[in-house]
Amino acid sequence: MSETPIFKVTIDNITVEVPAGTTILQAARKIGGEVAPPAMCFYTPLKGSGGKCRTCLVEVSKGSEKDPRPIPKLVASCRTAVMDGMEVKNITSPKVLDARAGVVEFLLLNHPLDCPICDQAGECHLQDLGYEHGSAATRYEFQRRTFKKHDLGPYIQLHMTRCILCYRCVFTADQVTQKRVHGVLDRGDHAEIATYIEKSLDNDFIGNVIDVCPVGALTDRTFRFKNRVWFTKPVNAHRNCDKCCGKTTLWMRGDEVFRVTARKDEWGEILDTEEGKPGWICNECRFEKKKASDWVVEGLAPIARHSVIGQGKYPGLVTPGETVQRVMDGRKPRLLMDIHTVSEVNKPGIDLSEIDGPATSEVFEK
Ligand code: SF4
Ligand code: FES
Repeated sequence: MSETPIFKVTIDNITVEVPAGTTILQAARKIGGEVAPPAMCFYTPLKGSGGKCRTCLVEVSKGSEKDPRPIPKLVASCRTAVMDGMEVKNITSPKVLDARAGVVEFLLLNHPLDCPICDQAGECHLQDLGYEHGSAATRYEFQRRTFKKHDLGPYIQLHMTRCILCYRCVFTADQVTQKRVHGVLDRGDHAEIATYIEKSLDNDFIGNVIDVCPVGALTDRTFRFKNRVWFTKPVNAHRNCDKCCGKTTLWMRGDEVFRVTARKDEWGEILDTEEGKPGWICNECRFEKKKASDWVVEGLAPIARHSVIGQGKYPGLVTPGETVQRVMDGRKPRLLMDIHTVSEVNKPGIDLSEIDGPATSEVFEK
């Protein structure tokens, strides 16, 4: 059997080696940090996902060693394979940043800005994208598209108004439950997730649509409005389950289990089990096992995401690799001002993550 050739690709001035057939997005994820483009519709375990949202656009400034011509238009990195000697610009391309700001503006045209009451807040990819690339105001003058909330049985709620039509839940129903009876109906601003999704609810694995939804369109009714995700403590736990791998993350507050999800990586994607298969979990583990005694707790779950759930005092915190210096050809970012030279607030000697309870002025007056 012939071996897969290894290609060299340079993304934002950092070179990596990847097997032929790897996409630019996956190669960039290998470098990590800001170099990895955001992805709202691509989801590694779901075949055929990607190519819908355009948040992952990048500039290919050199096509390959053999044909160094640049690709004239920005390309979707989740659907474009690397070539040997390819050079790609993500955060180093003003064109990409401009296009991404435009994509975010489009995604937010109809999306309600209800983060303060949305259950996805704190772990929402669109919220992160809005902070990183969005503008402070909208230019849209028309009424936003709205839909009625829809209970999909006792466990799932569809809030179509928040949906960005990424198709991930459609692929999940198709590939994980093997019984898809919902999809995207209509076109343009009438497009919506069809209400026939209700009919797939008797499937044991349909709860996974909640985990793949990048926004708060599909939420867990057993958790809705019970707590904010950043007040909960994620721990990895397992149980013997005859339907799924039984390996989950419990989101606890004190001894109470508020929510059960599959385990995810830093890109928000379901982690593989030891057998190398995606660790999708069944409805029973997700919705019906809400007592700590139902589970064997393994320990704190590592938090790899850079959003607000990573803040706080979790010893398992894994921070993304620092790439700024590498992107800038080894130059260090220039320090414009050390805030401590002009302000008495935020003493560097005080480690906020170590104090007991929230920081108040008293903490700094000691
Ligand atoms: S409901 Fe969520 S997962 Fe499904 S298409 Fe809409 S945004 Fe994507
Ligand atoms: S992640 Fe590439 S187009 Fe959506």
